[in-house]
Amino acid sequence: MVRITSALFTLASLTAFASAQQCSGNGSICPNNKDGVSNTYLQCNSWSHQYQSANCPTGQVCYANPNMPGFVMCGLPGTGGSGTCSGNTAKCAGASGQGSAYLQCNQWSHQYQNASCPSGLKCFNNASNTGVFCK
Ligand SMILES: *[C@@H]1O[C@H](CO)[C@@H](O)[C@H](O)[C@H]1NC(C)=O
Ligand SMILES: *[C@@H]1O[C@H](CO)[C@@H](O)[C@H](O)[C@H]1NC(C)=O
Ligand SMILES: *[C@@H]1O[C@H](CO)[C@@H](O)[C@H](O)[C@H]1NC(C)=O
Repeated sequence: MVRITSALFTLASLTAFASAQQCSGNGSICPNNKDGVSNTYLQCNSWSHQYQSANCPTGQVCYANPNMPGFVMCGLPGTGGSGTCSGNTAKCAGASGQGSAYLQCNQWSHQYQNASCPSGLKCFNNASNTGVFCK
């Protein structure tokens, strides 16, 4: 995560929550390596080599960052760590034409949110792979 300065300022209070787990560098992990559950994440302190607990923004949970191995990201529950998005983009949750679930970009939060085609219809990615249609 990039919230280095705030993590440093709260170092003292975080020490109590620090995991005994050793780490190196400035990487971060989700507690128990579980995606999409915890509102906190563990940030490696590169001086003490100990993980320290830090908070995701309110309402968000920790995911392993698919675009940055060794680092976490915070996202809305149900987004599967799909990263940030922009505009009215959407993509099928699985292969095109296989299931009804898809991920719709929330234009305000820039996070994907779960969505589903109406019952009986399947999700297809559109020709430019930036949107979906149900059929
Ligand atoms: C943390 O690690 C990343 C990836 O190696 C690097 O780009 C970044 O500069 C590092 N930040 C600090 C404060 O060391
Ligand atoms: C969103 O979808 C994923 C898989 O498609 C599922 O694991 C997750 O529980 C869903 N989250 C919500 C909040 O519906
Ligand atoms: C795919 O869907 C996106 C989002 O609705 C839309 O902006 C884009 O024009 C669509 N592409 C095609 C080729 O229809």
